[in-house]
Amino acid sequence: MCGIVGYVGPRPASPLLIEGLRKLEYRGYDSAGLAVHDGKTIDIVRAVGKLHNLEVALAAHPLAGSLGIGHTRWATHGRPVEHNAHPHAAGDVAVVHNGIIENHVALRHALEADGVRFSSDTDTEIVAHLIDRAMRAGIVDLFAAVRRALEQVQGAYAIAVVSRTAPDRIVVAKSSSPLVIGIGEGETLCGSDIPALLAHTRDVIILEDGEMAELRAGSVRIETVAGVPVVRAPKRIDWSPMMAEKGGYKHFMLKEIFEQPRALEDTLRGRVDLRAGDVTSSEIGLSDEVATSIRRVYFLACGTSYHATLAGRYWVEQLARVPAVVEVASEVRYREPVFGPDDLVVAVSQSGETIDTLAAVKAAREGGAKVLAIANVLDSAIPRAADAALYTHAGPEIGVASTKCFTTQLGALLLFAVWLGRRRGTLDEGKARAVLQALVEAPGQMRAVLERAPEVLAVARVWHSASDMLFLGRGLGYPIALEGALKLKEISYIHAEGYAAGEMKHGPIALIDKKMPVVVIVPKDAHYEKTSGNVQEVCARDGQVVAIATDGDDEITPLAQQVLRIPPVAEWTLPLITVLPTQLLAYYIADLKGTDVDQPRNLAKTVTVE
Ligand code: F6R
Repeated sequence: MCGIVGYVGPRPASPLLIEGLRKLEYRGYDSAGLAVHDGKTIDIVRAVGKLHNLEVALAAHPLAGSLGIGHTRWATHGRPVEHNAHPHAAGDVAVVHNGIIENHVALRHALEADGVRFSSDTDTEIVAHLIDRAMRAGIVDLFAAVRRALEQVQGAYAIAVVSRTAPDRIVVAKSSSPLVIGIGEGETLCGSDIPALLAHTRDVIILEDGEMAELRAGSVRIETVAGVPVVRAPKRIDWSPMMAEKGGYKHFMLKEIFEQPRALEDTLRGRVDLRAGDVTSSEIGLSDEVATSIRRVYFLACGTSYHATLAGRYWVEQLARVPAVVEVASEVRYREPVFGPDDLVVAVSQSGETIDTLAAVKAAREGGAKVLAIANVLDSAIPRAADAALYTHAGPEIGVASTKCFTTQLGALLLFAVWLGRRRGTLDEGKARAVLQALVEAPGQMRAVLERAPEVLAVARVWHSASDMLFLGRGLGYPIALEGALKLKEISYIHAEGYAAGEMKHGPIALIDKKMPVVVIVPKDAHYEKTSGNVQEVCARDGQVVAIATDGDDEITPLAQQVLRIPPVAEWTLPLITVLPTQLLAYYIADLKGTDVDQPRNLAKTVTVE
């Protein structure tokens, strides 16, 4: 999600910055731009679309100079148009930014009240104005002015800043979003990721959260934002260029699996008000009147997003006590569904472009329903066709098989259910706070589960030659059984089926024999006794159980061939946690089989044809 590069040294900056941005293209972007200092002044060139468009613009308006910053933007606040592309300028200052400024609304209002006129819809321009204000207030040193601005900013950011008044330095800072400094021969670089630097140096310093640095051609000074000096020696990187692009992971899918805690944090940022036990209303974009007047929630989605909506139904029924329906969008559009003004349709799509979901959304609106879109791509077709949009902030997902988009969809759906329940009076402040607290704690729990990836690899080694696999789950474990099976078949080509555990004896039990691995999602939840009963039934027929179970549950150990552990988790957020071992299992099995994990056969990332 967005890429930053910077260069200060003896060479012309423009081509180096473009080359660095090209190495960050895998992060996804919709516009790009450069700001270069020619010794006297700073000039900016920006263009919508691919880097080629920026190169065309640069050919018409070359940027001379050997100090500059560059950016590829993946829109989060404000449409992907040229005036929203970075760098953003204010006075003498130009800024590029990756991340989200959480308190952007309050800061923007305060700056506007002070007479500042904005030329973009972005949260980034606020940072440029804050730095400019600090300089106008007499802080001449760029480093100190950036610090003053950062003291006012909350959220996730990596920024790079240049000023006309400081022709020999770039100031960078980081909180949550990545930033890496490259130490070259008489030159210094920075980037969102190591691949942007590797052509010039293998010696890098990774900036930590809460740190800022002043980069000059022959020196780097690091301090915390609070002003404490930091001494950090560069590390030598020995990755191959391919490895570097994937952040050292073998596949994008694995990288994206490990990015999930961060992606969920970004999706929750600024939306949870724990003190009030509520969700920030403006983030949902629908009026309270819609929440109180509707009589049905109708979820529409396809594939993995459909599995997320199955959890969404569970949450909406439990927390908001509204009848909820879940439908595969491709089926809805060929029936004659009855939509009306009493319906709130929630359309979920990572790409925001899936043709079936889009067609069903249009049918819903024609019938008079209100539509909320949950999507990962700003301004994509489904959010544009909807009344309101709640964006997930997973960042671009490159692996075709969806992972981080799924868990961020779950996060967004739980936020939606809390929002609805609070407005309908079915969810009191205390319970809402407990649910939101569980959601806020989920990224930490996800990290703990991901640390156990080697245990999942060991299980994958046992089962990678299986021809079939069954996944069972109950309650919030049911969507995860479906999703686990889908992930496995998509990337490993092993036939897999997901079933509601209670349905097992109505058919799938006939499949069970000693060659059939059965993954059972059996955490310590309200359904534990019943689901562990299903485990017993599988064992009684010589089925081979791989249990996804809670730490400390010793009853399951003698029944299962292998147990993949999760920490104790509040019931509300279980699917965010139980899905992780299933994703890793699918990934490791596919990798052991040697399939094309990131681009499995016959599949497309965005399905815009029927
Ligand atoms: C599976 C997967 C697909 C998508 C489906 C819908 O890993 O990614 O099943 O979930 O094609 O796509 P979106 O969410 O873009 O509407």
